[in-house]
Amino acid sequence: MIMPISSVPVPEPVHRFSERSGSLIPTLWRRKQQGDFSAEQMTFLARSLGLPEARVCSVSSYYPAFRANEELTDWASPPLKNASIIPRAPYVFVGSERRVTARCGIESDAETRYAGLCSALSRSPEQVCSMIVESGLRGRGGAGFPTGLKWQSAKNTPSDERFVICNAAEGDLGAFMDLAILESDVYSILEGMAIAAYAIGARKGYVYIREEYHGTPSVVTDAIVQAGAKGFLGKRILGSDFDFEVEVFRAAGMYVCGEETALINSMEGRTGRPRMRPPFPTQAGLWGKPTVVNNVKTLGQVAFILREGPAAFSSVGTEKSRGTAVLSFSGNVVEPVIVEVPMGVAIEEVLREFVKVPGGKRIKALQTGGPLGGVIPAKLFGTPVSYEAMSAIGSPLGSGGMIVLDENTDMLEVACDFARFAAAESCGHCAPCRLGTAEIVRSFEDRPRVEAVAETLRTASFCAFGQSAANLTLSILRHFGDEDGGRSRSNR
Ligand SMILES: Cc1cc2nc3c(=O)[nH]c(=O)nc-3n(C[C@H](O)[C@H](O)[C@H](O)COP(=O)(O)O)c2cc1C
Ligand code: SF4
Repeated sequence: MIMPISSVPVPEPVHRFSERSGSLIPTLWRRKQQGDFSAEQMTFLARSLGLPEARVCSVSSYYPAFRANEELTDWASPPLKNASIIPRAPYVFVGSERRVTARCGIESDAETRYAGLCSALSRSPEQVCSMIVESGLRGRGGAGFPTGLKWQSAKNTPSDERFVICNAAEGDLGAFMDLAILESDVYSILEGMAIAAYAIGARKGYVYIREEYHGTPSVVTDAIVQAGAKGFLGKRILGSDFDFEVEVFRAAGMYVCGEETALINSMEGRTGRPRMRPPFPTQAGLWGKPTVVNNVKTLGQVAFILREGPAAFSSVGTEKSRGTAVLSFSGNVVEPVIVEVPMGVAIEEVLREFVKVPGGKRIKALQTGGPLGGVIPAKLFGTPVSYEAMSAIGSPLGSGGMIVLDENTDMLEVACDFARFAAAESCGHCAPCRLGTAEIVRSFEDRPRVEAVAETLRTASFCAFGQSAANLTLSILRHFGDEDGGRSRSNR
């Protein structure tokens, strides 16, 4: 009989080794601040952490944050260049149904802020999980997995310890919703994390923040301290038996580290490459313990459900995509904006109402779903914003980042840019992805060749990155393949 991984006891020496390796990336960050990555320092670091030197060297050379040349991609096409600029506060929030973003940038007292947590603590953890299941909430990080089922799975896996991780890796080009929410209303995310922790029986949580979000870790850390001082985090929260602490983990780069198992590997001080599944993180996640990884926007929806009830949450949206969608628009826009609308609203309606293009130019297409997503040509702008409708036209909703491409955009240049991005960000673990993404760069204008490579990528790659790496190129070729006389961009 095969024992579930979570029931296999971790031998004590291995556990101690794991704890030491967990401080490897935070220690490398401190080294970076001191600007010292010499061989002597690596030896010293390995000795002081009690880790093999080879491990320290391989981990430090894997992450862009600790390499000399951090910039992997210089975007050639103008809308992508614009979208790669990370906006700064004050962020612009608009929308016809503001829930997650309702309090962004608005001061409100602690009592109103934590009404969702109070409601959760007045119920049993099972009831809280059931409310999330009933609401129909699906994860906003890209895969759209039902959040309540994820929580129930972690809760029902026997363990002495469980974890909640807020995924703010936000690597999609042009996506900045998680950044803006964290910097404008971090309390709602801490509240969502506390509710998740109470529901699954976790006492420790982490906010995993994208490397390039330099100011965000201190915003979150300050809020953790303040929430603790008011009794909303820490020991015996709001006079209950529930303890929950939160810590910030600063990521060190690599797009694939947004994938939850790669993210967990990086938190354990390993190279951030995806793990084989099953076991899923809810069965054996951080340090082999049941772990819920949820996106910032997913956690941002949770307090509303506890405060207003599952029926109020699902009162808007479509049958399979309940609630609201938080979207960011960048690229060829006058100003990058964050829009919150009910799921099911037509894309053209959102564009008409909330997005302005410089010079009043026509929008040719929308890039959605990040570098593993697709493009929506103008003729399909009647498509509703939802998981099912957008996947059906080959341009998934993903995490909600949308890049506006105006009438002057060279679409094949966009395809080439994204193909180069995929090749640069492949973690190199498996050959189909490592070689296939490079082959797409070489032959991205040759549709039959791209289709053949895409098929290999889809069927033979180890993780979702490789499996979807050719989707965007294919989507552009399908809709705009005839646009250009075939001048070659692949050798740039
Ligand atoms: C290559 C890759 C990158 C990903 N990047 C992110 C990311 O930046 N943020 C995120 O929340 N989820 C990302 N995901 C999805 C996560 O693996 C995971 O499904 C998600 O964090 C779960 O949260 P949710 O259920 O709230 O959506 C990525 C997945 C893949 C395959
Ligand atoms: S598919 Fe790509 S990103 Fe995923 S494990 Fe293989 S090489 Fe790494």
